[in-house]
Amino acid sequence: MSNQSLIYHQECSASSLQNVVLRAPELKDGMAVFRLVERCPPLDINSSYCNLLQCGHFSDTSVTADMDGELVGFISGYVVPERTNTLFIWQVAVAEQARGLGLASRMLAHILTRLASQNINYLETTITQDNQASWALFKSIATKLSADFQSSAWLDRETHFDGLHHSEMLVRIGPFRKLREM
Ligand SMILES: CC(C)(COP(=O)(O)OP(=O)(O)OC[C@H]1O[C@@H](n2cnc3c(N)ncnc32)[C@H](O)[C@@H]1OP(=O)(O)O)[C@@H](O)C(=O)NCCC(=O)NCCS
Repeated sequence: MSNQSLIYHQECSASSLQNVVLRAPELKDGMAVFRLVERCPPLDINSSYCNLLQCGHFSDTSVTADMDGELVGFISGYVVPERTNTLFIWQVAVAEQARGLGLASRMLAHILTRLASQNINYLETTITQDNQASWALFKSIATKLSADFQSSAWLDRETHFDGLHHSEMLVRIGPFRKLREM
């Protein structure tokens, strides 16, 4: 982390995310999301068109986090068409200067709260074997939801990615009934 990022990080910690505004994305957020994802390896960079669709068609199941007018967090999600009790989390991105403050957890809680009337009781996502931050995030969420955490092989490097991408494990969390404090 650069010195400038470190100072910003400390300022963020001091304010405990008080200046962060969480909301449903709007179409006009698409390019800012594209640039945030670009700054968040190992996330796959999607086309700007894809990010625009996420902010438009999938706004109800996604969230943006603004801090002092800057986009510092984004989660894209959708309800699985064949299993409407399941929220699939596509990508979670938190800008480097806002990490370690509970922002990703809070963004997920925000989506689940907005969907409270929709009988969502499972969360799914995929995680590559080596993404320790992502495993920690979703295990922590399972604990906060008092829900089972299961992982299984799903998208295989050779079978599905032609050897061009690490395998993605499918993580399934649930059933859960209500949010504890996140
Ligand atoms: C993964 C990522 C979204 C986490 O965001 P964050 O706002 O820092 O996460 P939180 O502060 O909400 O932390 C949630 C939990 O994960 C843990 N965690 C977060 N980053 C971690 C890391 N690098 N190593 C180990 N644990 C980590 C936290 O300690 C916390 O656990 P706790 O609730 O038991 O205390 C962020 O690091 C990021 O954007 N990384 C790059 C993109 C990526 O890998 N996205 C995830 C794949 S979809």
